[in-house]
Amino acid sequence: MNVTVFGTGYVGLVQGAVLADVGHHVVCVDVDAAKVERLKKGEIPIYEPGLEPLVKENHVAGRLKFTTDAAEGVKHGQVQFIAVGTPPDEDGSADLKYVLAVADTIAQHMEGDQVIVNKSTVPVGTADKVRDKVDGVLEARGRKDLRFDVVSNPEFLKEGSAVSDCQRPDRIIIGTASRIAQDMLRELYAPFSRQQDKMIVMDVRSAELTKYAANCMLATKISFMNEMANLAERLGADIEMVRQGIGSDPRIGYHFIYPGVGYGGSCFPKDVQALIRTASDIDFDAKVLKAVEARNEEQKTTLFQKIHKHYQGNLAGKTFAIWGLAFKPNTDDMREAPSRVLMEALWQAGAKVQAFDPEAMEETQRIYGNRDDLTLCGTKEAALRGADALAILTEWQSFRAPDFELIKQQLAAPVIFDGRNMFEPKRMSIKGFTYNSVGR
Ligand code: UDX
Repeated sequence: MNVTVFGTGYVGLVQGAVLADVGHHVVCVDVDAAKVERLKKGEIPIYEPGLEPLVKENHVAGRLKFTTDAAEGVKHGQVQFIAVGTPPDEDGSADLKYVLAVADTIAQHMEGDQVIVNKSTVPVGTADKVRDKVDGVLEARGRKDLRFDVVSNPEFLKEGSAVSDCQRPDRIIIGTASRIAQDMLRELYAPFSRQQDKMIVMDVRSAELTKYAANCMLATKISFMNEMANLAERLGADIEMVRQGIGSDPRIGYHFIYPGVGYGGSCFPKDVQALIRTASDIDFDAKVLKAVEARNEEQKTTLFQKIHKHYQGNLAGKTFAIWGLAFKPNTDDMREAPSRVLMEALWQAGAKVQAFDPEAMEETQRIYGNRDDLTLCGTKEAALRGADALAILTEWQSFRAPDFELIKQQLAAPVIFDGRNMFEPKRMSIKGFTYNSVGR
């Protein structure tokens, strides 16, 4: 099939490449000319395992094209995906200006019937707004003869495993009442639904809410566990034992119950806030979601609080090694990363930071630039040199079995603040460390 994808961010680029890889002909449209040029050369703007070869191979094979020419894009696709960003407004609601701009573009250029598919995470009711936008433009063009459907088809991929998530989806949510659109998408997604039918068809509003409900449920699990971790610390319990104890109940499960330094990234914080906002717009007080958000904001400060307490507030002139800057492993994404909250609090208190991350160094440099109180180090060992303590913020695989003797040699004192519970407290104490972790 011929497919057009508007937006070459995480969702659009991965979806476009994965659809091309199963044989569809995909044109990706982006307004950012520099980005399109880089993509044409096979340069991927984000770090995502497996994405680069996938884009290159399908680009060379002619099944995946990149352009800034929206008219060409609209002409190409039988299905038009909207996969542009929905950044939060100042009040936390999702800003739809990019989504509606694409709807406008599609309506300006369409010459035949179209299936328009929303892949961006958008508030309930957005499909109606897209429909109104397209209707208005077609009316102004005198082309009310053209038919179109607006479908909600939210994306559930995770950063760091975006390609495999997209190739092997748990479910494909299709929100539409249109038979034509349903059939079209069934054909498009058939290669991903072979073993069992992954498609769940529903009305458009339910599909839109499904995406928020999924992310908010996951965020709730994390905030709940962080609350339990805080309780465990104060009650003399070990949250890691509690985690295993409750995870063994299949109704609870082991996934997404890891306590830590709070959730970050481009989705959970934004989506929880957006749903709170959606609720308040209709005079509904989303009490659970507000608590999830509040717990997370506080949890992001937990490592700083522990450090502050350990040094009795005397942080000026101290240096801290930080391992892990990305909001989670296998990405270079720093959006809403807990590491930022810690570094900024340390700087505020007059301390210095020596940081290392396997992928997010460039991104950190881009965000903070050159400053006297930040040294970006080439290796995790270099970050330790002469520092007063080590703080671990992201559970990268390469941090799991470090050379503890070397850590002791390099640090000025054997003190670790571990925001991801990577090690056993007893063993760390035998090794001679003052080891602070979360909920233990
Ligand atoms: C998330 C959803 O998982 C995905 O389905 C959706 O499409 C987009 O949002 P992502 O933001 O890429 O994906 O990251 P995810 O792996 O879900 O992690 C989110 C945050 O939660 C990270 O900061 C992570 O460290 C934190 N987390 C996750 C925990 O603190 N504990 C856990 O048990 C799991």
